Amino acid sequence: MAESYNHDVWTEKYRPKKFEDMVGQEEIIKRVKALTNSMNIPHLLLAGPAGTGKSTIALIIVKELFGESWRENYLELNASDERGIDVVRQKVKDFARTKAIGDVPFKIIFLDEADALTREAQQALRRTMENYTSTCRFILSCNYSSKILDPIQSRAVVFRFQLLEKKDIKKRIDIISKNEGLSITPDAFDVLYESSEGDCRRVINLLQATASISPNITPDLVNTIVSKAKPSDIKIVLDYALSGDFINAREKLLDIMLKESISGQDVIKAIQKEVWNLPIDNKLKVRLTEKTGEAEFRLVEGSDEFIQLEALLASFILAGQGGE
Ligand SMILES: Nc1ncnc2c1ncn2[C@@H]1O[C@H](COP(=O)(O)OP(=O)(O)OP(=O)(O)O)[C@@H](O)[C@H]1O
Ligand SMILES: [Mg+2]
Repeated sequence: MAESYNHDVWTEKYRPKKFEDMVGQEEIIKRVKALTNSMNIPHLLLAGPAGTGKSTIALIIVKELFGESWRENYLELNASDERGIDVVRQKVKDFARTKAIGDVPFKIIFLDEADALTREAQQALRRTMENYTSTCRFILSCNYSSKILDPIQSRAVVFRFQLLEKKDIKKRIDIISKNEGLSITPDAFDVLYESSEGDCRRVINLLQATASISPNITPDLVNTIVSKAKPSDIKIVLDYALSGDFINAREKLLDIMLKESISGQDVIKAIQKEVWNLPIDNKLKVRLTEKTGEAEFRLVEGSDEFIQLEALLASFILAGQGGE
């Protein structure tokens, strides 16, 4: 995600500026801090879920290394930029041509969403990394390290970021709520945390959206902002599917996803919960849960959400008829 420096946006306003302000990821922070203090960092690959501190730590590293002159020594690129790897290569070349300003003998290039690069583009990136290794260090960020070529991984120190725990996110939310004059009930925080599942950016965005309605944050208020599949809607989809009506099940499902703009993963989570409330025998519940898990896995791996959800409905129809 491109980082802006707009302070009306709380995720930016409250982006940690020092290692000490970051929460969770303790091991990573300890090691990165030690590397940064040595003033000689290797290439880094930061892998892990959205909103867990990858871009944040990259910015802290450059600010620690270069102090005031960090902007001159730092280039941020986004790999999913539609202009492609050639633009990335040209920009790297232009940037790497001049020497670093100050005491540190290299500059830093941050390449966000590196897992969006094709194999060919990654091969080109690998050569670029090799060519400029004396003047540049790369910090690559990605959600899935499995999508990064081995030769790139082996040239970098890999750090795996985890989803943030509730107690860690709470530390950040407490700071924000104090500074913004909010009151948040414990139940409201539970709702905020649960709808974010460890993605700090999502919690902060959700909090800001909720606070724009009222500074008194209650569970009901948060729920009006969270877009979640309604259990009653999901039940209708499942009832159609289990009675063998694929057409209506599919139509209702598309309706939920498009009209209420709910992601495939959120729909799957709602299905997984709702399966256990259906009046069907436990064996069938287990089978449906298993199917749902498979679909979730494929979605996370990046396959098309409509296709996966349609396939899931089809498998529910078969299961409902006592088949596979
Ligand atoms: N570990 C953390 N400690 C404190 N704040 C965090 C942490 N992780 C995320 N945040 C908050 O969430 C915002 C987004 O985090 P960040 O940009 O680092 O996410 P990311 O891991 O780079 O995600 P993406 O994969 O989407 O690029 C930050 O501006 C900050 O406010
Ligand atoms: Mg990022």
